[in-house]
Amino acid sequence: MFRNQKITDDIYYVGVNDRQKAKFENLIPLYDGVSYNAYLIVDEKTALIDTVDIHFGEILIQKILSQLGDKGLDYLIINHMEPDHSGSLRLLRKYFPNMTIVGNERTLSMVKGFYEIDGSLLKVSDEESLSLGRHQLQFFLTPMVHWPETMMTFDHADKVLFSGDAFGSFGALNGSILDENLDIDKYWDEMYRYYANVIGKYSSPVQKAIKKLEHLPYEIICSTHGPVWKINLKKAVEIYDRLSSFQAEEGVVIVYGSMYGNTELMAETVAQGLAEAGVKPVIIHNISTVDLSIILRDIYRYRGCIFGSPTYNNGLFPEMEDLIRKIESRGLKNRIFGCFGSYTWSGAAVRNLTEFANRLQWPMSDVMVEEKQGLKKDNYESCLQLGHQIAEMLQNPVQFNKGC
Ligand code: FEO
Repeated sequence: MFRNQKITDDIYYVGVNDRQKAKFENLIPLYDGVSYNAYLIVDEKTALIDTVDIHFGEILIQKILSQLGDKGLDYLIINHMEPDHSGSLRLLRKYFPNMTIVGNERTLSMVKGFYEIDGSLLKVSDEESLSLGRHQLQFFLTPMVHWPETMMTFDHADKVLFSGDAFGSFGALNGSILDENLDIDKYWDEMYRYYANVIGKYSSPVQKAIKKLEHLPYEIICSTHGPVWKINLKKAVEIYDRLSSFQAEEGVVIVYGSMYGNTELMAETVAQGLAEAGVKPVIIHNISTVDLSIILRDIYRYRGCIFGSPTYNNGLFPEMEDLIRKIESRGLKNRIFGCFGSYTWSGAAVRNLTEFANRLQWPMSDVMVEEKQGLKKDNYESCLQLGHQIAEMLQNPVQFNKGC
């Protein structure tokens, strides 16, 4: 029944869209779904590259059967074992009992661990090749992009890189799977959000992978999530390169928590100071109403961060505590930082935020504002000054690039 979309003459898309799941990994909200991409190569030998989430396993099987007819499936190549891609493995084995599962040593150990499958396995090592006929596949181990077993597969015949999670994004695919046929703009924000939330902790392995593969003449990138990159390939790689090397765009993200509006008024005033000094864009997130996945996206994207928190139970506002823990666990580097806060009887928020910035060695404004109770004239002026100083630090990063 299925007419699978072609990527090249004999490489087909057999992945699916998931518009049902509310949260990716049961953690990260999906506002526009996500795709689980799988690819079928039909040559003298046939090979499937990755599977899909088990909830869509039957559709995957039907798509493969529509393409192959009576021709069997010779190989399943596993670039990544996370169950959003390996979930249909056991089902696939039932339909194609003669299929050989191809993976590296860590992959095959996980095949056994997750699915208790240990027959018809082919272990491959770094840079080893497999011939399907016209297609010569070569495997490149790229550990920790995003799990330890991850690898990428390069097809020398059609110059296609099957990249696993790398260069992926959230967002279901509307009609087509090729970037050249999609309204592509919506995917860029979702690529930043996907990177910051899913891959961000593994920036150093991403850098290693980009460098390891830069000699390959790839012209198409087939990731496990989001569009197939052709005309926007360079931009997709540049975004991953920039994010994984902690480079950022000009702009400042203000994130604040506020129980009764006092810290919020400080946030508005700091933003005014930034705008007076010519900073664009200034992004403001109320941490109580904006999902942390969006806040993290913008912190990965922009060079300046200013956090504001009331003192709560002698510490930070709980959502702010959660945010800084997430940033620290990712080891995000190279941000210019400022902070402010308010308290009623004993201040602790600004001290906590300062210690956070020190731990990450982020250059920090020496203007810090902590108000007792309601915002008053002196600290109103200090909030404006905080905005002005962060603007100056953005314009002269070298002068301030000394840590806190
Ligand atoms: Fe899309 Fe790391 O799995």
